[in-house]
Amino acid sequence: MKNLINPTPLILVNFKNFLECSGALSFQLAKKLQKSADDTGLQIAISVQSFLLSEMVKYTDLKIMSQHLDAKSEGSTTGSLIPEVLNSVGGWGSLLNHSEKRIPLEDVEKIVNRMNELGLVSIVCVENVEEVGIVSKFKPNFIAIEPPELIGGDISVSTAKPELITESVLAAGEVSVLVGAGIKNGDDLKIALALGAKGVLVASGVCKAKDPYEVMLDFAKAIN
Ligand code: G3P
Repeated sequence: MKNLINPTPLILVNFKNFLECSGALSFQLAKKLQKSADDTGLQIAISVQSFLLSEMVKYTDLKIMSQHLDAKSEGSTTGSLIPEVLNSVGGWGSLLNHSEKRIPLEDVEKIVNRMNELGLVSIVCVENVEEVGIVSKFKPNFIAIEPPELIGGDISVSTAKPELITESVLAAGEVSVLVGAGIKNGDDLKIALALGAKGVLVASGVCKAKDPYEVMLDFAKAIN
């Protein structure tokens, strides 16, 4: 299994289907994020829109992820996104079960097993501590706790629900926990790390920021 996980905190920037980072704009954002990684040593992954994933792998040294995978087999499965094809184009890993793209937990388990065999990095999103306990048994690389009601808002999970982070870290056992929803700045990251998380998922706070590079610098200051 490829062990591409670096022990420094992971910042995953999810491009979603934001038009602010689709097409040519997605490469512009990736370039700014790459510069921030080069200047600060931040460990940055980006979950890009599927249409651009194979191009993005060639364009940047950032870790490239898909936003979703299906529990479908290779072959006659038109339109599905599958781990084997992600691996064949050089993807680093994938988000699974994002609250905007939920899948049955039995599918999550099947996909994580295939990703583990391929050496792909899995980040399984969950919405509560009970799901953390269930998913940790599948042995993904990361579990990302994201309260859906805080996604896209101005109040971060770190300030609104610090206890959720602590409880998730406990419930995840040996599986590393990331946190997301409303993350905007270094203070949000600092709290998450202090409570035992290994990094954050952030979308609007970077993709829609006036200056994404500055946001990343603020994250870097919180770590150093
Ligand atoms: O995947 C991360 C995402 O759901 C969080 O979104 O906009 O609250 O950072 P946002």
